[in-house]
Amino acid sequence: PVLVVDFGAQYAQLIARRVREASVYSEIVAHTITAAEVQALNPLGIVLSGGPSSVYADGAPAFDPAIFDLGIPVLGICYGFQVMATALGGTVAHTGAREYGSTPVTVSAAGNALLADQPTDQTVWMSHGDSVSEAPAGFSVLASTASTPVAAFANDTRRLYGVQWHPEVRHSEFGQNVLENFLHRAAGIPADWNSGNVIAEQVARIRAQVGTGKVICGLSGGVDSAVAAALVHKAIGDQLVCVFVDHGLLRQDERRQVEEDFVLATGVRLVTVDVREQFLTALEGVSDPETKRKIIGREFIRTFEQAQAELITEAAAIDGDPIRFLVQGTLYPDVVESGGGSGTANIKSHHNVGGLPDDLQFELIEPLRTLFKDEVRAIGAELGLPAEIVQRQPFPGPGLGIRIVGSITQDRLDLLRHADAIVRAELTAAGLDREIWQCPVVLLADVRSVGVQGDGRTYGHPIVLRPVSSEDAMTADWTRLPYDLLAKISNRITNEVDGVNRVVLDVTSKPPGTIEWE
Ligand code: XMP
Repeated sequence: PVLVVDFGAQYAQLIARRVREASVYSEIVAHTITAAEVQALNPLGIVLSGGPSSVYADGAPAFDPAIFDLGIPVLGICYGFQVMATALGGTVAHTGAREYGSTPVTVSAAGNALLADQPTDQTVWMSHGDSVSEAPAGFSVLASTASTPVAAFANDTRRLYGVQWHPEVRHSEFGQNVLENFLHRAAGIPADWNSGNVIAEQVARIRAQVGTGKVICGLSGGVDSAVAAALVHKAIGDQLVCVFVDHGLLRQDERRQVEEDFVLATGVRLVTVDVREQFLTALEGVSDPETKRKIIGREFIRTFEQAQAELITEAAAIDGDPIRFLVQGTLYPDVVESGGGSGTANIKSHHNVGGLPDDLQFELIEPLRTLFKDEVRAIGAELGLPAEIVQRQPFPGPGLGIRIVGSITQDRLDLLRHADAIVRAELTAAGLDREIWQCPVVLLADVRSVGVQGDGRTYGHPIVLRPVSSEDAMTADWTRLPYDLLAKISNRITNEVDGVNRVVLDVTSKPPGTIEWE
């Protein structure tokens, strides 16, 4: 792999993704990694990320300088560039002058591998206080800005490179090209990592792990569990059984997509557990959001465990071979943020939705553990899964249950499902699925307002539209949908959905609002 060293800002994941966009496999490691640990991983190259601090700050993230002597090509970015300069005998000046945002840079050494084929004048994204004022001995300066004399440097013999700007962000015009130049030209790493390879590698790995064992997988209807299941199925066929829980809080057509489209595309053995009644009963009269979530989580686990127990008994009755493995659709960001992988900082511990109990008696299979979401989608497409599943936007585990403000009843669910289907259809027809991160449709079941329809007075409920744009759901902005589209959605909902006489738009960013209403 190429190692991306995380100095504690959010840049490492973005860099790791950009390296993979250059068809090179990357892994994120903590800045505390030692030269011996690096050697054991045998990387083809190393990228040092940006970071939050000055190299002179108290507690500035350190880095083992012996790593520069391993003969492995290294690219330092921003803070990583300064770490490199300091470690190798250059000078980093604490000028107090800050360079932030789009900045013109002059490339003086377009002949160097790192900046090959790049224009002399270009715009890059800067975000730094300190600057490298003197390159280390043996390094040549490749670029400068008005306030930063050393904006990029190189030592071709040692294959050590650095840039002050952030090539991983789109605001740097030729940023991806800098990364690709480093990977392919300077470090000589081939561009040979792609969906096909990942599938082949995972299939081999799953076969080795499972042998002739039996495997169970819970499908949620979402992208991750679907792709994980399809991969495992490709590897071991009917040794896999999938379980789909219909708790009645799903959106229109989701169960059919899993039961028909997904099964048709993959050929997996699927057991649907219909617990719609059970969930409605458990949720009766409950309107507090946290209580709803707890009940839904508890019932979900109960259902899944019961299904497992039945399948295990069944499997044992057939050939005495119990189910030993459980598939989980864990993604790389979950692993990195939970402090897994190669020892990065523990930012938060992720629970997979419907949180499986601690004392689970299964060995886990997590074929997506090394992948980012867009890579999972690409693999799903390569495996022939339907676009409705592979391109699906995020949908919360507790489903429509947390989009009814008020208590949950069958009628309210049906009403919301109908309104939600209209919104999704119209957003798709308008070609906005990619632009919108997700668009919760919320029923204010405890609110009524007066309206007039035909000749009569109505006293109905409002539907809230919550279209948001986001990179990662941590922050979000409300999406400026075209007025004509909003008008069409509003007309359709008030005309077609009984009981709704008003449609309102949520124009709150996150923070302060969360994406979901509950
Ligand atoms: P909030 O409402 O916290 O949502 O801004 C952030 C993202 O998480 C999704 N979400 C959930 N997903 N189980 C999930 O699997 C949940 O309980 C849950 N609550 C919120 C939400 O749809 C958004 O994408």
